[in-house]
Amino acid sequence: MNGSTANGSAAAHQQAFHRAVAPSSPPVVVAGAGSFAGMMAASQGAAPAVPFSGSAGSPTASYAGAGSQRARSISIPGKPSSMPRLLTPFDQGDIRILLLENVSQGAVDMLRQQGYQVDFHAKAWSEDELCDKIGQYHAIGIRSKTKLTAKVFRRAEKLLLVGCFCIGTNQVDLTAAAKAGVAVFNSPFANSRSVAELVIGEMICLSRQLADRTNEMRAGEWNKVSKGCYEVRGKVLGIVGYGHIGSQLSVLAESMGMSVLYYDVVPLMPLGTARQVEKLEDLLAASDFVSLHVPELPETKNLIAAPQLAAMRKGAYLLNNARGTVVDLPALTDALDAGHLGGAAIDVFPREPAANGKDTFVDALNGFESRLRACKNVILTPHIGGSTEEAQTMIGIEVANAIIRYINFGGSTGAVNFPEVDLRVITQADSDDVVRFCHVHHNVPGSLKAVNEILGNHNVVKQNSDSRGDVAYLLVDVAGVDEEAKREIYERIGQTKANVLTRMLS
Ligand SMILES: NC(=O)c1ccc[n+]([C@@H]2O[C@H](COP(=O)([O-])OP(=O)(O)OC[C@H]3O[C@@H](n4cnc5c(N)ncnc54)[C@H](O)[C@@H]3O)[C@@H](O)[C@H]2O)c1
Repeated sequence: MNGSTANGSAAAHQQAFHRAVAPSSPPVVVAGAGSFAGMMAASQGAAPAVPFSGSAGSPTASYAGAGSQRARSISIPGKPSSMPRLLTPFDQGDIRILLLENVSQGAVDMLRQQGYQVDFHAKAWSEDELCDKIGQYHAIGIRSKTKLTAKVFRRAEKLLLVGCFCIGTNQVDLTAAAKAGVAVFNSPFANSRSVAELVIGEMICLSRQLADRTNEMRAGEWNKVSKGCYEVRGKVLGIVGYGHIGSQLSVLAESMGMSVLYYDVVPLMPLGTARQVEKLEDLLAASDFVSLHVPELPETKNLIAAPQLAAMRKGAYLLNNARGTVVDLPALTDALDAGHLGGAAIDVFPREPAANGKDTFVDALNGFESRLRACKNVILTPHIGGSTEEAQTMIGIEVANAIIRYINFGGSTGAVNFPEVDLRVITQADSDDVVRFCHVHHNVPGSLKAVNEILGNHNVVKQNSDSRGDVAYLLVDVAGVDEEAKREIYERIGQTKANVLTRMLS
C-alpha cells in the first residue's frame, strides 16, 4: 500500500501543512512537504499524481488569523498501514520534536522509532532561545525548569503539543497553550509505586527508630535499645486518600502482614482485605500508622491539624508524602514534643527550596524547620517520594506515548489544558478511504454547525467532541471520500470562523 512496514515502523513518508497566518507572518514552508498526492507518491516511491495545495514538492502554507489570534490548518495525510491502522504514514521525519532537560533516553528512542526528527538537549532553554527556535517544532518535551510562556506560544507556529516529562505543569502557561490549540500532557501517576515503596520503608524506619539510631551512631554513640521498637506485622495502617498511591500502598502493606483501613471522599472498591471507613476520625482512632495520599486542594489544607493529631492513637506515627499544605506542621511538632505521637515522616512542605543546597531547609522557609529538625524519631526528606530512576523511565514512556497518540491519531486523553477526546481507531478492516479530521476550535455557538454543514453530504462514520473553557476539540472520521473531497473538507473546515487548528490524518 505504501512504504510503511506492517508493524507501522516509519518508511518514506511526507507531510504537508496548510495554514492561515496573520498577514505579517511569513509563509511557512515545511521542508520536504508536498502535495497530498505527492506525499502518497513519495511514500510509495512514485511521482506525485494530483497536486494538493501549492505546487507539488514546494507547498506554501498560509495563515488567515483574526488579529493576533492564530488560526491554522495542518494536513498530515498518508495511507493506512497497520492494525490498528497507522494514520500517519506521512514522512514522520518531517515532524520535529524538541526535547529539553535531559528527558529519559527511552522516550527519545520511542519518538525516533516513529521516524520523528528529535533534537535532544540536556539543559533548559531560556524564553529568548525558545522564542527564537520554537517555530520549527511540532512538539516540545520539557521537565520543570523550562518555562513556556504566552510569548513562547505566540511564536510556536507549528506547535501541536507540549509533553511535560514530570508530574507538575506549573511551568507552562496552560491557558495560552490551549488558546493556541496546543495540548499539554504530563505524567501524574508514573511514580506512584516509588512513593508507595518509600512509605513502606519509612514505616519500618519509624517503628524501629532507625533515624535516631543512625544519627547517634554517626555522632559516635552506641545506643542498643528495644523499648518502643516494633515490627510492622499485625499493625494497622490507615491510608487517607485511596487513589493511585494509596491503593498501591494498601497492597504492599497487606503483604507485610499489616491490616489496612482507608478513608476517601468517594466510595472505592477495596483491594485485598482493606476496609474503607466512613469518617476520618474513625481511621485516626484505629490506626498505628496514618499515611496521607490526598491531592492539594482547599479542602485538604490542614486536613491533619491539632484536633486530628489529638484523635490519633498515642504512640502512632504520621507519614506525609502527599503535599506540604495537608498537615499543620507546627501542630505536628507540638504533638511530637508532647510524646503523643511516636514519630513522623515528612517528605513535603508548604514552601520548599527552589534548588538543592546547604542551609536551604531553615526557618526562613516556613518558620518551623529548626523545631521539626529537633523532634525525636522524625524522618525528613526533600520531596523525594517519587524520585527514582524507574519513575523517570515510566514518565518517559507515558509522555512519549501521549505525544505519539496525539500526533498520529489525534487522541487527547490525558491532556491537562485541553478537551479530552478520543475516537476508536481506524483499523485495517475499515476501508482505505476513511479519513480523520482533528479540529481544534473556539468554543462558540455555531462552531459545530459550521463543520457539520461541510460534512453533511458525506459518510461520517464516527465523531466525538468536547470543550473545556474557551477551547473545543472535534475528532471525526469520514468514509468514502476521494482525494479531492478530502482536500475540500479539510480546507473548508480550516476556513470556518471558529477554527484554531485543523489536521487531517489518513
Ligand atoms: N512525595 C512525592 O514525591 C509525591 C509523588 C507523587 C505524588 N505525590 C502526591 O501524592 C498525593 C496522592 O497522589 P495520587 O497519585 O495517589 O493521587 P490520586 O488522585 O490518584 O488519589 C488521591 C485520592 O485522594 C482522594 N481525596 C481527595 N480529597 C480527599 C479528602 N479531602 N479526603 C480523603 N480523600 C480525598 C481522592 O478521591 C483520590 O482517591 C498527591 O497530593 C500528589 O501530589 C507526592
